[in-house]
Amino acid sequence: MKFFIDTASLDQIKEAKDLGILDGVTTNPSLMAKEGISGLDNIYKHYQAICKIVDGDVSAEVISTDFEGIMKEGKMLADLAENIVVKVPMIRDGIKAISRFTEIGIRTNCTLVFSAGQAILAAKAGATYLSPFIGRVDDITWDGVGLIREIAEIYAIQGYDTEILAASIRNAKHIVDSALAGADVVTCPLSSILGLLKHPLTDIGLANFLADHQKANEKAMATK
Ligand code: E4P
Repeated sequence: MKFFIDTASLDQIKEAKDLGILDGVTTNPSLMAKEGISGLDNIYKHYQAICKIVDGDVSAEVISTDFEGIMKEGKMLADLAENIVVKVPMIRDGIKAISRFTEIGIRTNCTLVFSAGQAILAAKAGATYLSPFIGRVDDITWDGVGLIREIAEIYAIQGYDTEILAASIRNAKHIVDSALAGADVVTCPLSSILGLLKHPLTDIGLANFLADHQKANEKAMATK
């Protein structure tokens, strides 16, 4: 399973890259706004800055919601860097644009996916990635990870190539459950990635190892 970071923060992207486990980045208009980036010029420059840090795929989302606008914006985004993947919402004109992008060789990430039916449509259109938002599904007391499992089963039965990118990850358990449910990629905040590190027995075990080492050294020094 590939690890993407879900942020537009250059510092967090660098920190995740430094861990040596980063395969790509996803952003969205809210994440760009959170970093205070506005205006098309600045937004495009920011995507280029992200693409310079990361070798893997970087999802850049269109703002347009009509076919012509999505096509125009998507082509401009794809021209920014080789590793840009155009993120397109799961709407009627979005699906039409994904089909057209597929025909002309532009890679896409179909976003705002909340059902298996939407997942089938995006795969038929040839989306490179599909982003089911599992945290937001859980927020309304449905089963986000169950949705990943259902889509993974359908894609395996049908032999679809679209990669399942589990999005809207809220914690480390979402990452583990997505891996088990058959996600190809998870995109997570840095805090959830770092959450995978944590286990009290690791902390206790390490403290004991270091204390034993220290005691043995002190004993050896005392007998010299
Ligand atoms: C996916 O690509 C989205 O950017 C993201 O995962 C949405 O997460 P949220 O529901 O925490 O906003």
